[in-house]
Amino acid sequence: MLFGKSRYTAVDIGSKNISVADIKVEGHGRMNVKKLAKKDIPAQTVVNGIIKDTAIVANRLQEIFAEVGIKPGKILTTVSNDSLIVRNVSLPKMSEKELSKVIRWEVEDYIPFSAEYARLDYKILHSSEEDMEILLIAVKEDVISSFEEPFNIMNLDIDVINIQPMSLLSILQYQEKLDLPAAVLEIGAAGSRIVIGDKNNVYLSRSFTTGGEEFTEALIETMGLDYENAEIRKKEDGLKSEMGEEEPEENIEPIDIEDLGSSTGSSGIIIPLAYNIADELNRSLDFFARKKGENGVDKIYITGGGSKLKGLKSLLESEVDQEIERLNPFNNFLFDFEVDEEVAPYFSVVLGLAASEVLDDES
Ligand SMILES: Nc1ncnc2c1ncn2[C@@H]1O[C@H](COP(=O)(O)OP(=O)(O)OP(=O)(O)O)[C@@H](O)[C@H]1O
Ligand SMILES: [Mg+2]
Repeated sequence: MLFGKSRYTAVDIGSKNISVADIKVEGHGRMNVKKLAKKDIPAQTVVNGIIKDTAIVANRLQEIFAEVGIKPGKILTTVSNDSLIVRNVSLPKMSEKELSKVIRWEVEDYIPFSAEYARLDYKILHSSEEDMEILLIAVKEDVISSFEEPFNIMNLDIDVINIQPMSLLSILQYQEKLDLPAAVLEIGAAGSRIVIGDKNNVYLSRSFTTGGEEFTEALIETMGLDYENAEIRKKEDGLKSEMGEEEPEENIEPIDIEDLGSSTGSSGIIIPLAYNIADELNRSLDFFARKKGENGVDKIYITGGGSKLKGLKSLLESEVDQEIERLNPFNNFLFDFEVDEEVAPYFSVVLGLAASEVLDDES
């Protein structure tokens, strides 16, 4: 954006938290963060990736805007990752006009629900004389409309609906960290997601149900705690108590898995869930290495509230045998206030939504 300035209000409605970033775009795509805010939403408001109680969400959003003083700019938002399909599809070469006409029929085989009930979008990744490869994005109509409804209630027009994996890649690209393929593991409450890409490609996007909530539920079931106390316990102890570690996470040496197996085995309460995440990450990395890059990914990043679980980063590092970095979504943004690095994992998606718009404007 060379002339004029834009203001974006980016909103991520999660199953546990709503995160909002209010951003002013200065000259040459530099972004100035005016406000950041996060508020939790009651359980059962978002169920299986659909907003069940749109009024509660609209209310919470209104509260956030009022409390931190946001007069919404262009609204950027996202939908849950449940029933989100992101796939590379090869098609015979055709014009964009033809593609927009036939896409619904062409992709029927690639999505597990009828294309009739899906909202489709695509991006042309490569094309040759005969073929083209597109990135296909499909979201179920009822999912997407449930995410639009809170804004309808508030009488706000949505400027862009993006998807979380793209937004996570955009934040890295905005920080010039996508010259080589990278993986991002985002651990939320309802689940986790993995995306692997570089600045021209999305190689893989997957989600699975192990996230912060499963860890809390495991503590409730096995220790008889109520929800609040299970959350407190989880945040205070992390994996530490099950690993017999007392040091802060960043100082823990990579865990020796053999030792762990013998001391806690699968009898740990939440350790098995951490291994689920490690397995999913390993499967995705293997897939990428087999299909695209025998050297694997250059970097692996983690983000999302669930990535704050103490001991998780080092467990994952030793399982995938590669260093993992905490994604810092604040890099390359200007701030009007002091930011608290502790909250960084909650803001990768919203800042990525804005990054994606600025990158689009530049290209
Ligand atoms: N210090 C911590 N240790 C462990 N877990 C944590 C910590 N801080 C936050 N969490 C967990 O992070 C989760 C919330 O993360 P986040 O805000 O990214 O989820 P969400 O976006 O609402 O969920 P989703 O994207 O899955 O719908 C909760 O399960 C919460 O318990
Ligand atoms: Mg989330």
